[in-house]
Amino acid sequence: MQSESGLNKPLLVLRDVSIGYDSSLSLVNIPNLEVFPGEIVVIAGPSGIGKSTLLRTIAGLVSPISGVLEVCGCILPESPPRGNLGYIPQKLGLVRHASVRHNVELGARAGVKSRKERQVRSKEAIEIMGLSEKSTEPIRRLSGGQQRRVATARTLAQRPKLILADEFLSELDEETLASVLDAVTNYVRESNAALIVVEHDISRAKMMADKLLVIDDGRVNPFIKGTKAMEVNV
Ligand SMILES: Nc1ncnc2c1ncn2[C@@H]1O[C@H](COP(=O)(O)OP(=O)(O)O)[C@@H](O)[C@H]1O
Ligand SMILES: [Mg+2]
Repeated sequence: MQSESGLNKPLLVLRDVSIGYDSSLSLVNIPNLEVFPGEIVVIAGPSGIGKSTLLRTIAGLVSPISGVLEVCGCILPESPPRGNLGYIPQKLGLVRHASVRHNVELGARAGVKSRKERQVRSKEAIEIMGLSEKSTEPIRRLSGGQQRRVATARTLAQRPKLILADEFLSELDEETLASVLDAVTNYVRESNAALIVVEHDISRAKMMADKLLVIDDGRVNPFIKGTKAMEVNV
């Protein structure tokens, strides 16, 4: 695997990072995490433990309480170039009265100046998410699962290096889930991007993860899929 060859630079590095909203109350401490191109990392743990906060911290929306955070080669407070980081939040933040196409093109705007190129990328991402027939529909007319697919298409249209996805598989039926997961996994492997997913369903988490981080009681217990010992020190 690329991460073991040491030839690739990590897309994400966390060193002794504490996260939370109040400096006197750390929600989670991550001693050490490196995520390499082509990797899928899943963050699991009970509700309210700080999983979304961890993604929001990596996305630069919440400041870490302490520690060193490097995203796409940029050490915080420096932020990565626009378009490198794609974020699918738990609360999607779609423009409800606007069409699927409009929402996805907004995503493609990050880092792409040419309108034509944005349209091409958006069309492709909408197709990948199986939403071509819905592209002129306003968001408010779509189901929860369809809206989540729009948010995923919005991020793919951006062609990011690092994707942060917060429960992006919820509200999908089994068949749609498999195709969305397939499409995003293919993107990650083919583009040498990396994916960090928050997933509350532990069996789903294990199925998709190269690395699984289980947050419990503010500590992170890492497991690497496929290793004999299951538990490793990071
Ligand atoms: N903006 C905020 N300000 C202060 N506390 C918050 C904020 N957002 C979430 N929290 C609190 O932080 C904790 C972790 O929340 P969250 O990261 O959303 O958990 P999870 O995603 O694991 O369910 C919760 O106790 C939540 O109430
Ligand atoms: Mg959450």
